[in-house]
Amino acid sequence: MNFFLLDYMLVIFFPLRHHLDVRRMSRLEGLKANSSQFTLEGEPFRILGGSVHYFRVPRAYWEDRLLKMKACGLNTLTTYVPWNLHEPERGTFNFQDQLDLKAYVSLAAQLGLWVILRPGPYICAEWDLGGLPSWLLQDEEMQLRTTYPGFVNAVNLYFDKLISVIKPLMVRGGPIIAVQVENEYGSFAKDDKYMPFIKNCLQSRGIKELLMTSDNWEGLRCGGVEGALKTINLQRLSFGAIQHLADIQPQKPLMVMEYWSGWFDVWGEHHHVFHILDRGVSINLYMFHGGTSFGFMNGAMDFGTYKSQVTSYDYDAPLSEAGDCTPKYHHLRNLFSQYHSEPLPGVPSSPERKAYSPAFIQQHLSLWDILQFNKPVNMENLPVNNNNGQSYGYTLYETTITGGGALNSRNNIRDRAVVFVNRECVGCLDYKTHEVALPDGKGERTLSFLVENCGRVNYGKALDEQRKGIPHAAVCFLHSYIKVTASYVFCGSCFRLTNSGQWKTDFKSHCIPGFFQARLCVDGPPKDTFVSLRSWGKGIIFVNGQNLGRYWFIGPQHFLYLPAPWLRSGENEVPVDRPWLEQRPHVH
Ligand code: GLA
Repeated sequence: MNFFLLDYMLVIFFPLRHHLDVRRMSRLEGLKANSSQFTLEGEPFRILGGSVHYFRVPRAYWEDRLLKMKACGLNTLTTYVPWNLHEPERGTFNFQDQLDLKAYVSLAAQLGLWVILRPGPYICAEWDLGGLPSWLLQDEEMQLRTTYPGFVNAVNLYFDKLISVIKPLMVRGGPIIAVQVENEYGSFAKDDKYMPFIKNCLQSRGIKELLMTSDNWEGLRCGGVEGALKTINLQRLSFGAIQHLADIQPQKPLMVMEYWSGWFDVWGEHHHVFHILDRGVSINLYMFHGGTSFGFMNGAMDFGTYKSQVTSYDYDAPLSEAGDCTPKYHHLRNLFSQYHSEPLPGVPSSPERKAYSPAFIQQHLSLWDILQFNKPVNMENLPVNNNNGQSYGYTLYETTITGGGALNSRNNIRDRAVVFVNRECVGCLDYKTHEVALPDGKGERTLSFLVENCGRVNYGKALDEQRKGIPHAAVCFLHSYIKVTASYVFCGSCFRLTNSGQWKTDFKSHCIPGFFQARLCVDGPPKDTFVSLRSWGKGIIFVNGQNLGRYWFIGPQHFLYLPAPWLRSGENEVPVDRPWLEQRPHVH
């Protein structure tokens, strides 16, 4: 079929007549899936969606990214909701500022976009523990994503809050046209009662919108829940996969909930997209704009080998990490423009970028000067943050040794430790390296492990095993176990130095691991920039109180995105309680 005919058919059968504006937000009838075509307000409707996660884009840029989505010809925004950010401590909720979900969804409506919400509670998304709060792991018996009472109770409390926030944004009140039940549960499928429980969590709290589930091809076998529309997740658009969905769910609209936009080699095959769209399939680009997993929020993979993800969530998506339109964006815009009877709005220009002069380190603080003692346990069970444990970051563990020899971690380090004897670095331990040689020496010496939680896995069956630090508080030294006797918290999600150590300007003294404070001079209005850390080893950066994320000289990421709204004109001081942390230059 040639393009003209395709265009003609689409205009006849699936006109995009739902040009939203806020005045039309009070709908009488929402999205329906009663036949092979979606209807919205009783009219045929095709979802042309794109994912942008509000928690991965600085709030000041939400509008820019959504305007670009609209200008690309998409009509629906999809977003996950990360439980771990919204409830950082049990019973303490945050739906403000960067996490103002209501404002985000309302902005989408203002700009003429419908919204599909994917509230989890598990979201996967290359996000720490798939979005589940780490404090759930304080319970040694915890069974995440099941009807285990401890999990059920926590979900109920969270959904009470979350649904009170989102309910006014649904039929008659807002643009949310569908809600996803959990995420790819078919690939996990540990408990038959779990999906009905989550569905009931939504409906019993008054969610009346269309419910959907999303699964990959294999997951569809065990996925779904009665009463919710099944959708499929794919990297490669194939008729086989679409037919499979049509076979297991006849006479229903076909939707690709996640068409993974991040593999351009595949993306090059544009004709596939045409043919799939030609079949009337609805589609959601995962991601339309990936953004950044700022701070410690990256997830990890573990299919036999643990690998943590980088801070950038560029995803090779149509909009780059910093919001630029890529060639992929323009191809898509050309494609989707053919599905609109009116010309698409113009593409907003991208924010300016600027290369700033180097920021010079002014002072430093040794890690050894700020330690605070705790009983040694895994970091989730540390008695901090109102007893919610320390969710992210670093913990230091210590014990005493009286000789030298082989130290074996028995693979008991989560995830990576720099090892010190009397404050001198002797090596690193991680999933690959289990052994380090401790030098001989006289008398009692302090053995220290600076352990970084590099990110909890976000996919797979091992979610319950994501406790970090030295979970069993023991290591094997000269073939027998020795107990770790102390642990110290010094850097979590909300970084504060608990002891005010002595900052020094003399760089000759021993200063690694430690904190480094610098000043960046911004002349004129701040512009987006990237921080280059090539001459540094491994660590994190805070700028004006914002944790930009992790860096590591082994790459592939060598620059951290620093958005203009987080800078100010003039001197940008990295405040004393939010410095740059460096573990040690060039240690794997
Ligand atoms: C799955 C998940 C998403 C994301 C993608 C990979 O489809 O549902 O959350 O993790 O994989 O990017």
